[in-house]
Amino acid sequence: MGRQIGMVCALGGYSVTVWDIDPDMLEQAREELRSRMDRRVEKGTETRAQADSAFERLTFTTELEGPASTADYVIEAVVEKVDVKRDLFARLDRHAPEHAVLATNSSTIVSSRVADATNRPDRVCNMHFFNPALVMQCVEVVRNPQTSDATAETTIELTRRINRTPVVLNKEITGFVANRILHALRDEAIRLYEDGVSSVEDIDTACRTALGHPMGPFELQDLTGLDVGYYVKMARFEESGDPADKPARILVEKFEKGEFGRKSGKGWYDYPKK
Ligand SMILES: NC(=O)c1ccc[n+]([C@@H]2O[C@H](COP(=O)([O-])OP(=O)(O)OC[C@H]3O[C@@H](n4cnc5c(N)ncnc54)[C@H](O)[C@@H]3O)[C@@H](O)[C@H]2O)c1
Repeated sequence: MGRQIGMVCALGGYSVTVWDIDPDMLEQAREELRSRMDRRVEKGTETRAQADSAFERLTFTTELEGPASTADYVIEAVVEKVDVKRDLFARLDRHAPEHAVLATNSSTIVSSRVADATNRPDRVCNMHFFNPALVMQCVEVVRNPQTSDATAETTIELTRRINRTPVVLNKEITGFVANRILHALRDEAIRLYEDGVSSVEDIDTACRTALGHPMGPFELQDLTGLDVGYYVKMARFEESGDPADKPARILVEKFEKGEFGRKSGKGWYDYPKK
């Protein structure tokens, strides 16, 4: 996610430093961005000149202090471990200019869990991109109880300047807005199937042809992985203790059988090897 967010910001005209602890990841990032941008130029999404000048604004480094000391805005997208993120926010807080906003792209860690590792909790929020960040329009701007109006406004303005569409959350809730709605839809789809109301195929067809979704909820689960869906439900249940948050019986069965979707050759649908 980090590399694509970096490119989105560079395309928006900003000078961007992409930082990682692992130099191999930076090399991979450079190569992946090169080939993605080549494809976008071929398709006419950007011109060659736009892609080239965005690359000129992008720097890749494993050195944190120097780039942090001149940053106006930092978007963190490291591994989904709260301790790693807290440690990084504390380091960024020590080196970044006082006015700099420190945002996290985390999908599940709300920013108040990292804000108190800094001395600037009012300048911390979630800035949540969707995958693939180069393509997806929406960015959720999530305020924690201490996020200042100025931080929220800066983040909304930045989102617009990088040609994305902000969706503001005035309260920190797990899952944010888009994924909460997606998960509710997915749960209802599974319930309708378990209750014998309709087949997997027909529920997907209803979502595509009546609701205009590009993909049905079962097709989408097969793409993103039933194992991922299972873990998300388990995490929600562990947090809430509410049995309604447990994964559905049929999802547990599929998880235990290793039917994870496209990646395992079988999920809600079969994917015979070519
Ligand atoms: N993958 C998605 O669909 C998606 C969507 C939205 C948000 N996010 C969020 O983006 C963040 C990153 O997710 P991802 O899928 O890009 O993960 P990823 O595993 O692909 O990338 C994580 C990066 O963090 C680096 N890293 C690991 N340990 C580190 C450390 N101690 N310090 C600094 N860097 C470290 C790794 O080298 C790697 O390059 C997560 O917070 C996730 O919730 C992911």
